[in-house]
Amino acid sequence: MRAAINKWGIKFLAGAFPANKPTLITGSGAMLKLAKLMMNSGVQRPLIIADGFMTQSGKLSALTQLLKDANCQFTVFDEVVPNPTMLEVENSVILAQSIQADGIFVVGGGSAIDIAKVVAATLTNGSKPKKLIGMMRVRNKPLPLFAVPTTSGTGSEVTVAAVISDPESHQKAFFLDPDFVPLAAGLDTDLLASLPPAITAYTGMDALTHAIEAYIARVHFNDAQSDALTAIRLLLEYLPRAFKNGTDLEAREMVALASFMAGYAFSKQGLGYVHAISHQLSAHYNTPHGLANAVVLPRVLRFNKPHCLKQLAEIESAILGKDSVLPEQQLANNFIKRIDQLSDELQIDKSLDSLLEKDFFKIAKQALREANDSYSVPKAMKLKQVIRILDAVKAGEREVAF
Ligand SMILES: [Fe+2]
Repeated sequence: MRAAINKWGIKFLAGAFPANKPTLITGSGAMLKLAKLMMNSGVQRPLIIADGFMTQSGKLSALTQLLKDANCQFTVFDEVVPNPTMLEVENSVILAQSIQADGIFVVGGGSAIDIAKVVAATLTNGSKPKKLIGMMRVRNKPLPLFAVPTTSGTGSEVTVAAVISDPESHQKAFFLDPDFVPLAAGLDTDLLASLPPAITAYTGMDALTHAIEAYIARVHFNDAQSDALTAIRLLLEYLPRAFKNGTDLEAREMVALASFMAGYAFSKQGLGYVHAISHQLSAHYNTPHGLANAVVLPRVLRFNKPHCLKQLAEIESAILGKDSVLPEQQLANNFIKRIDQLSDELQIDKSLDSLLEKDFFKIAKQALREANDSYSVPKAMKLKQVIRILDAVKAGEREVAF
């Protein structure tokens, strides 16, 4: 996830509201099954929001044909770009109002789903999208939202947040409300099968980081812990398979499911220093989010280990599938080694070439600010410890002395 969520917000949201999970459809043909579900639920004039690539590649044609055959009065908005701005949101809202849309169906990456969340809420709240920036600003239920993610990583199809760029302020606008969770989601392996190996690796490592950071966070809910643990196990088993063979549909489905579960877990329990640091790396060097997470994760785990030994040992025991006689220290070490091995298997670089030493102080300060404001981490990091992590990333060393 790319959003920073205030830690009090997470606690308040999680404690005060029932945990919404979208109705889930998975596997081959999930997009079309979800479209049928949408029509059966009474939506007659949906706005279809899609990445431009989806229409250009013809991947949307089966969906539009299905809707045409059913005499559904749909309209397509396919001008979604990476890092979407308020302009795309406002244009989508105008289009949706012009057709009197009664539902939103989104097919795309995390950005497209984030746009769809804000559009669905804006349409029922009689306001400009900007009025919904912040926490708990959605008063009326959004239009029914149906989401088909085309990557397996952000978990946006299940989270309570959306992030949109605001070119006026040159900042990211964060939207946070339990009503942003889509009504239903489709994890369609036919769409996911063509993801290139590098994108599969980066987005999968993003999902893995969500699950691990949620599991070791100091905010705990039983269902979120259970989902985080299952997500970690699924990703360790199936992500290498999806990376090596994109058309392994069983692996694709399990990775997508894990991303969904990890999204639910971090939506309730928050993230940690991996995201706090990786967000700054992406902002400074345009590093893909999942890659930045993957590179930072082994170093932050080594920092966290003494402060969440029990949780790391629990994860390793769950992976082993039996009660282990090994001490917690050993189990935790073994789990961290698994992450190193997985990174190697997915051909994740040990270092980031773009990293410049002159930026370390600024990056570290910004990372600490994000973590302090937003996450319930196992142990607070000091500035010099963040800088050691950055030094280790620059040097390509996973072992860091703190
Ligand atoms: Fe993330």
